[in-house]
Amino acid sequence: MLNANKRRIAEILRTEERNCDITVKGWVRTKRGNKNVAFIALNDGSCVSNIQVVVDVANFDDELLRRITTGACLRVDGLLVDSMGSGQPVEVQARSIEIYGTADPETYPLQKKGHSLEFLRDIAYLRPRTNTFGAVLRIRHNMAYAIHKYFNDRGFYYMHTPIITASDCEGAGAMFQVTTMDMNNLPRTEEGAVDYSQDFFGKPCSMTVSGQLEGELGALALGRIYTFGPTFRAENSNTPRHLAEFWMIEPEMAFYELEDDMELAEDFLKYLIQYALDNCAEDLEFLNKMWDNGLIERLKFVVENDFVRLDYTKGIEILKASGQKFEFPCDWGCDLQSEHERYLVEEHFKKPVILINYPKEIKAFYMKQNDDGKTVRAMDVLFPKIGEIIGGSEREADYTKLSTRVKELGMSERELWWYLDTRRWGSAPHSGFGLGFERLLLFVTGMANIRDVIPFPRTPGNAEF
Ligand code: 4AD
Ligand code: MG
Repeated sequence: MLNANKRRIAEILRTEERNCDITVKGWVRTKRGNKNVAFIALNDGSCVSNIQVVVDVANFDDELLRRITTGACLRVDGLLVDSMGSGQPVEVQARSIEIYGTADPETYPLQKKGHSLEFLRDIAYLRPRTNTFGAVLRIRHNMAYAIHKYFNDRGFYYMHTPIITASDCEGAGAMFQVTTMDMNNLPRTEEGAVDYSQDFFGKPCSMTVSGQLEGELGALALGRIYTFGPTFRAENSNTPRHLAEFWMIEPEMAFYELEDDMELAEDFLKYLIQYALDNCAEDLEFLNKMWDNGLIERLKFVVENDFVRLDYTKGIEILKASGQKFEFPCDWGCDLQSEHERYLVEEHFKKPVILINYPKEIKAFYMKQNDDGKTVRAMDVLFPKIGEIIGGSEREADYTKLSTRVKELGMSERELWWYLDTRRWGSAPHSGFGLGFERLLLFVTGMANIRDVIPFPRTPGNAEF
């Protein structure tokens, strides 16, 4: 049991106890009142609600009360009583107040009026103190916990895949290089090229774009694994859905075919959304009221409805027949843009869609090839307001087909020797997918910009804090 003065506001607001001594510690959201009584709304980050502290002005030093302003941090000792005001079950009648830290109203940027999300991004080091980011960060924590719980309960092992790597899993070449070489004085070979043999790892290395390749090694030994870690993409995409550093969840399963992969992806997403509805109700209601009044309805809708499963080829037919003017063309062979994905989901089916069997030219080298010679057993899960939330596939398990594809794409067989070896010894059908953690959070919180669902976003030109 935690000592009584360690109790947090979320717990105090739920307790049945009354007329007992209580200690609360937190940051002042507002202070109002008159010359007889002051009301301080105190928040400690444990929930979106504040606790009301009632101060009998006659019992306190004026100078102390003057220093209690929005943003100040306090310890209050007092009596927990039924609240006379509406909107809260209890309040604290203050007996003593200690100021841990003041917040000068002339300089403290978070005054009580509503700030724009753009302004809050500029002061991302303070925004966790707002109701909105408190709610988002609590939901983010709950989703991370639910992800581990989901997999643990189903016999998957959490595997830590490396962050520094010499292989480009997605083959898109959008990697951040890692080096300890002096950029102003690079060692050169006799031919004048950069001499990577003198670099820390003795060869060019980068930050990983995905833990999948090593995840596959785990699946082909432990049966079912998942990774959950940071991934890095140096693509110059300034959109509300792209980050240069994001977190990805990647399950990888032996003996799973594409159908099993789809089933897992759908069940997993529904579980996470239901978990949020069950465990983050107060924060979701707050976000629903503040930013997106369709949020809770949309979450319930996704949990209650089957996802549509559709061939890429059929998807292109629907898009072409739609008569819709898209910014980008969408002929067979094109990579779908978010506008196309969202048309299928929001306008045509009005449900999440799992699109499968994409042209092999627009997908990564590791995907299992279909017999038609043109398509691969890929799947993308497309969500309302988001577009692609999951990308995955059945993996090519055949050594000859895989190594031929690696050669066709001009990739380095020498760098991928260890990956190709898994297909030489004890190869097995297997599948997996990657869920972008921040894309999931965009959906679950209803926030519109991915910069607002991660504490400290990294995007082109921005690595502050
Ligand atoms: O589709 P992607 O690139 O797939 C992979 O990386 C596979 N290796 C996954 C696997 O099969 N194990 O990325 C997977 C997901 C996307 O669907 C998207 O949700 C998210 O990662 N994602 C991003 N999220 C934020 N910012 C970016 N720049 C992202 N790029 C991908
Ligand atoms: Mg993808």
